[in-house]
Amino acid sequence: EGEGWGRMLEPEELLERLQAFLTPKDLKGLKLLVSAGPTREYLDPVRYLSNPSSGRMGYAVAEAARDRGAEVVLVSGPTALPAPWGVEVVRVESALEMREAILGRYSWAQAVVMAAAVADYRPAEVSREKEPKVAAEKVLRLLPNPDILKELGENKGPRVLVGFAMETGEGLARAKEKLLRKNLDLIVLNWVNREGVGFGSLENEVVLLLRDGRVLELPRMKKRQVADRILDLVKEFWKG
Ligand code: C5P
Repeated sequence: EGEGWGRMLEPEELLERLQAFLTPKDLKGLKLLVSAGPTREYLDPVRYLSNPSSGRMGYAVAEAARDRGAEVVLVSGPTALPAPWGVEVVRVESALEMREAILGRYSWAQAVVMAAAVADYRPAEVSREKEPKVAAEKVLRLLPNPDILKELGENKGPRVLVGFAMETGEGLARAKEKLLRKNLDLIVLNWVNREGVGFGSLENEVVLLLRDGRVLELPRMKKRQVADRILDLVKEFWKG
């Protein structure tokens, strides 16, 4: 990426930079680790298991935190989004790679926002060559992936930990259970079965469940605004 005089910024980026410049630096000094996007669990060199996560929510958190003066490392699974300026981006594919990248930065981090849609399973056998197609039925054996966020919670120290939960139906109770089991300060509950929000969309409608029992239902808003609300709470826990 070019920098300084001589490189013409795109109009959108110019606007972004202006918005960033005008944002109060209330997160100055915060070292924030963010994860985003899906993971890919390869069966062979050309096939994988994954999910439709766009990465937008995590990228929005990274960008909002950058604008508010935080130092941000973004560990990203494969997405179509451009790398945000002013953020260190670490690209990974599988859940195991994501785990390595995140644990490697954990001692540095003061807060972690785990927005990635980590695949729960990976194929038990990965072949180095492309598997030939056969007419017969095939059975795929899967191994559970490590729960990265749970590991972080077991070694939390003074860090602020934020998780996400995608739920349908009885989501509130399950999200609450995850908040406690993974030792988080905050969990962001997304409804997967609602129109125009969640996976891939620009807007989100979430419920924030806090460790202290507070439950904040946010109206539908842009992911960037959701990001700022999450960061307001990160700030509260970080300073408190
Ligand atoms: O248990 P569940 O997958 O619903 O929890 C979601 C939260 O846990 C998300 O914040 C996600 O990033 C994180 N997670 C993880 N490692 C996994 C699965 C989920 O860190 N293997």
